[in-house]
Amino acid sequence: MKSTVFIALPGDEPLAEALAESLGGIVAMLEYRRFPDGESYLRIHDSLDDASVVIVARLARPDPKIPALLFAAELVRDLGASRVGLVVPYLPYMRQDTRFHPGEALTSASFARWISNVFDWLVTVDPHLHRYHGLDEIYSIPSTVVAAAPALADWISTNVRRPVVIGPDAESAQWVEAVAGQAGLAWRVMRKQRFGDHDVRIAAPDLDGLKEHTPVLVDDIVSSGGTLAGAVKVLVETGLATPHCVVVHGLFGEASRKTLAAAGVQQVVCTDSVAVLEGVIELAGLLAPAVEEILDD
Ligand code: R5P
Repeated sequence: MKSTVFIALPGDEPLAEALAESLGGIVAMLEYRRFPDGESYLRIHDSLDDASVVIVARLARPDPKIPALLFAAELVRDLGASRVGLVVPYLPYMRQDTRFHPGEALTSASFARWISNVFDWLVTVDPHLHRYHGLDEIYSIPSTVVAAAPALADWISTNVRRPVVIGPDAESAQWVEAVAGQAGLAWRVMRKQRFGDHDVRIAAPDLDGLKEHTPVLVDDIVSSGGTLAGAVKVLVETGLATPHCVVVHGLFGEASRKTLAAAGVQQVVCTDSVAVLEGVIELAGLLAPAVEEILDD
């Protein structure tokens, strides 16, 4: 592999170091601070001449991070990088994948254009593909999607006795099926209707023959917490034990933990795609081979 330099956005250094170690690359430090007026200052002290550079950025709550990311990508190219990739375990702005109301911004497509303009490739984990069938519908650079399912399945098999994997809505079927398939578990999917950011109604699945199992709700994202809270309430009303909740991306929007606690959820286990305490399922081991493959290409 050509000399590969990993550079993290502030706070994401452990993931950059883990990838560099596993792939035999080196880490360069991004000096980042804000000027007194809030504008960004960036500097890289290392030489990047002809290097293949990988920028590692966890982009939950993305708005304050986006300028730094775009500046960093242009900076490394200015400093001589021959190729600039992005490892973005949580890819934001995927849920505004249509204009739900006239006049709305199609932010998924705009964000994809910004990223495609400054990066040569990207690797992400379980992006929210609902109305889009693949990232290439909006991203014009090569992208690799890593599935967190093996890591989620491992966690469930190790920590839950006799699990049945349940998705809270039709969109979750893709993740639920993959997780259950990895671990050879039964799975079901519920039906959800959304009436607003915080208002969802969910119907129970057919759980005949599974009432003695431990329910494990699996979803790609927890944001307001409304989906998981609603699903937990319905499952408990049907006589099941309080479900475990396992989610890929723990966004935990404002008041979400309160919403979840009110529904009896004591813990939502997530991957470390987002910097939250609940992010105990590590993704570096799944990301490394995907990054290696794209670097070798
Ligand atoms: C929906 O399409 C997603 O898969 C998640 O179910 C949803 O984003 C969770 O959001 P919230 O926690 O706000 O209900």
